Amino acid sequence: MSSPEGAPQGVIPAQLLKGQKALVTGANSGIGKATAVALGRAGADVVVNYVAGPEEADKVVEEIASFGVRAAAYQADVSDEGQVVAMTDRMVEEFGTIDILVANAGMQRDAAFTEMTLAQWQKVIDVNLTGQFLCAREAAKEFMRRGVVPEVSRAAGKIICMSSVHQIIPWAGHVNYAASKGGVQMMMETLAQELAPKKIRVNAIAPGAIKTPINRSAWETPDAQTDLLKLIPYERIGEPDDIAHVAVGLASDLMDYVVGTTLYVDGGMTLFPGFATGG
Ligand code: BGC
Repeated sequence: MSSPEGAPQGVIPAQLLKGQKALVTGANSGIGKATAVALGRAGADVVVNYVAGPEEADKVVEEIASFGVRAAAYQADVSDEGQVVAMTDRMVEEFGTIDILVANAGMQRDAAFTEMTLAQWQKVIDVNLTGQFLCAREAAKEFMRRGVVPEVSRAAGKIICMSSVHQIIPWAGHVNYAASKGGVQMMMETLAQELAPKKIRVNAIAPGAIKTPINRSAWETPDAQTDLLKLIPYERIGEPDDIAHVAVGLASDLMDYVVGTTLYVDGGMTLFPGFATGG
């Protein structure tokens, strides 16, 4: 079965992540929300982190709980060390442990370079890069404390960093965002190297243009869509489920040997589409 946009539905095996506890940051909208729901559909218990918008987070929790798994909404700002530590401590207390972290929370504060304020630069680095560092650090501590539980997973834990095609595609007018995602790539690879011997798998997903609130202006008018599609060889703007389904696979033992990799999920955006006819 396909949705009108073409994203496959109902294809997630319900027992794939049975018994695993997942924390998804920024899970009350967009890619985070779709990922939290998909993890729940795959049998995981899910903590839905959000910073603002409790009603939306509660709706996500309700949807996940309808699959017969546990879900709860935890408010925390991922860029605040105390709040991240409190969130992961609470999850261990209430859910028993953490098996999967999807470090997804992210934002844009766009400006031409010479107009960009230090506050705009700092905020995006704090949330997109430092936020992932803090959440990954706390999750990794719990993975190492618990170790591998073979009935649950071959790995002691899985960390999925939500990056972007802009970890390798420079992006004028968005230097804070592109720099944060370039940082995510090297952080992810370094953590993957450091934590693999502890049986912790660290990987990233680099979404292209996915229809979410973060890039509404890029897809909401027909003209904007036409421009955007020129950058996507597959000629389809992505849906949140396109990313969520990959996150479920990466978190599962089906992909146990995938360590330190970025999966570009972008309809070919990173294939230099301008060269299809030029060069
Ligand atoms: C950005 C979007 C953008 C997409 C492709 C994402 O990381 O958040 O605003 O549409 O990359 O350029």
